[in-house]
Amino acid sequence: MELIAQRPNGTKDVAPTEVYKWHTIERIAAETAECCGFKEIRFPTFENTALFKRSVGDTTDVVQKEMYTVTAKSRDNGKDSGEFTLRPEGTAGAARAVVENGLLNSALPLKVFYIISCFRHEKVQKGRLREFHQFGAEMYGSADAGADAEVIAMVAKILDRLGIDNVELMINSIGCPKCRAEYHKALKEYFSARKDELCPTCLDRLERNPMRILDCKSPICQDIAKDAPLILDFLCEDCSAHFEKLKRLLGEMGIGYTVDPHIVRGLDYYTKTVFEFVTKDIGAQGTVCGGGRYDGLIEQIGGNPTPALGFAMGIERLILTMDSKGAQYIPDKKCDLYIASMDEDAQTKAAVLVDKLRSEGFYVEFDTVGRGLKAQMKYADKIGAAFAIVLGSNEIESGKAMLKNMATGEQTEISLGDKFVDDFSNVAVANMFSGTLDDFSMGNGI
Ligand code: HAM
Repeated sequence: MELIAQRPNGTKDVAPTEVYKWHTIERIAAETAECCGFKEIRFPTFENTALFKRSVGDTTDVVQKEMYTVTAKSRDNGKDSGEFTLRPEGTAGAARAVVENGLLNSALPLKVFYIISCFRHEKVQKGRLREFHQFGAEMYGSADAGADAEVIAMVAKILDRLGIDNVELMINSIGCPKCRAEYHKALKEYFSARKDELCPTCLDRLERNPMRILDCKSPICQDIAKDAPLILDFLCEDCSAHFEKLKRLLGEMGIGYTVDPHIVRGLDYYTKTVFEFVTKDIGAQGTVCGGGRYDGLIEQIGGNPTPALGFAMGIERLILTMDSKGAQYIPDKKCDLYIASMDEDAQTKAAVLVDKLRSEGFYVEFDTVGRGLKAQMKYADKIGAAFAIVLGSNEIESGKAMLKNMATGEQTEISLGDKFVDDFSNVAVANMFSGTLDDFSMGNGI
């Protein structure tokens, strides 16, 4: 047999045996965000292309080279035709959603988080996919550096609770439009001197947005950019004071950081604080989280002027990082009970009992593929069932069966009548608490 098509390059399937890793990250990140006052927001996978062009910026690599865009033909007299793009990131869509739904008219700050798939037509390599997933959070309505510290502290807490300690926090300030005017002038001067060596995209950027040359992926442009003037030397008084306050707060909170004046981020909307959490343990694509402040974006897309900031962490990169150091995940739910059956009457009884226990939240299985008893017990073992019951004509007749603890071999008589669910619950709960504590505590805060 040959598949008619394979998965597109740069995408990944997640097998049911791997999905616990995703659940661990999504659960820990969401729970931590909720403790910090963030609530989940959901928004579409695609948006009008104009939204990304205006917010992410039409001189960025993301917009110029990496967007998946379709032109949709009209189905309604031209009203719904247009150009749509699969979201390359979440900040623009979240910003559009909060403005469009009037969410910024209520008490601020507004704090939201999201778990989304994103799409970028990038060169595929380890940790760099074309469909990838982000856990992101955005906070609207606070201009104070205290909010920057709060958001950075939240990322640090999520990483800590996931058992990730092999990451470093890098911070920088890229100023506001006021201080950036002078900086752009200096960059233009610097890059003009080596104009002939720049890639064609950066040649265009030199005129339109010279800061974007700083994060061009072409090795030659990167080499030239190494000695370019640094934005930190051009910060205005307000941006400087903001950055100083952030550093003081991080220091007070015991959050270690390094100032990296080369961080500019690849998206146009940032102002003032930008930050990245980076690991050396997963190869060249070691940035597991990126974020920063974007005080002009809400107004730029049509809302009232509202300062804002946020971050997004790449879930695939978090998994690579956790795997690189053997961090623990929350294990999958294990099978509580397997009810084996020796004939059709017994299978019918098993189906009824299974259904009752499932209603109480137990994970219970029985045979539906017609295996012999030996094969059923082998299967029970394979799926890690904690207990097993074998039903045959004797058990059906007497209304009683033996409940076998699969780990110890210990057997207890159990009624198959009205008391079945209560009896099983008592044994299962007692067994849970007699297990080693390691079954429950992950040793890394989970
Ligand atoms: P970003 O730095 O483009 O920022 O992406 C955030 C994170 O997503 C990265 O640090 C990385 O972990 C992951 N990521 C990005 N591209 C890929 C890829 N091709 N394959 C795998 N993982 C990837 C943003 O997206 C901003 N919206 C973050 C933000 C939110 N800033 C303010 N609020």
